[in-house]
Amino acid sequence: MKIIGHRGAAGLAPENTLEAIRRGLELNVHGIEIDVQLTKDRQVVVIHDFTVDRTSDGSGEVDRLTLEELRRLDFGAKFHPSFKGERIPTLMEVLQTVPTDRLLNVELKQIAYRRRGLEEEVAKVIRHFGQHHHIIVSSFDHRGLKTIKELLPEIRIGLLTYHYPVNPRSYLEGLGFPVYSLHPAFELVDREDVKTYLDMGLEVLSYTVNDPQTARELESMGVSGIFSDRPDLFV
Ligand code: G3P
Ligand code: MG
Repeated sequence: MKIIGHRGAAGLAPENTLEAIRRGLELNVHGIEIDVQLTKDRQVVVIHDFTVDRTSDGSGEVDRLTLEELRRLDFGAKFHPSFKGERIPTLMEVLQTVPTDRLLNVELKQIAYRRRGLEEEVAKVIRHFGQHHHIIVSSFDHRGLKTIKELLPEIRIGLLTYHYPVNPRSYLEGLGFPVYSLHPAFELVDREDVKTYLDMGLEVLSYTVNDPQTARELESMGVSGIFSDRPDLFV
């Protein structure tokens, strides 16, 4: 089963920082997952929450702060004082940190009613980087995924879900764009659905699993990989 470091390796270092990514990579994970958002000045940064309050020494909404303002904040000390000085990374810095023989899962996060073109900016960064064979772009926002697939036709798409679709096959076929992988919450993994997805040629990558027993249960259902804050427990 593939082990993917969640938010880098959020149980071992401050989530979504370069240090968390390095810790994950050191553990020889199959890949790394990060969350991305747009700043006020349209830079693509790596952060999960829509505000900086929980993970930094600042406050406010990510899309109302500039990259320069975000860079001044400390994203390390709230996790542990020994990480003081960790800064918010940009997507480009992560692309330059994760070797292209590992999977990089870029999860798009944006407030749907405040759409400002995250997909366009992510596509620009990936094009500028020049390689994308190792990337999966995922989101709970399936409309955003349709947009990024139009912008980067060769990019692999991961469909994040937190629901039981009534008919998984017809939902996938109705999307109108091809999907590479299905990313269900582990609490909602269903044996029959996994079989359907595998039969359709998709991978099934489930989040967020920090317990070896749960991982074994998922593996027995055919799940291809898990996102974990504690990849050290599995690899
Ligand atoms: O991509 C898997 C997982 O990260 C989705 O949930 O809220 O942790 O971004 P969340
Ligand atoms: Mg995520």
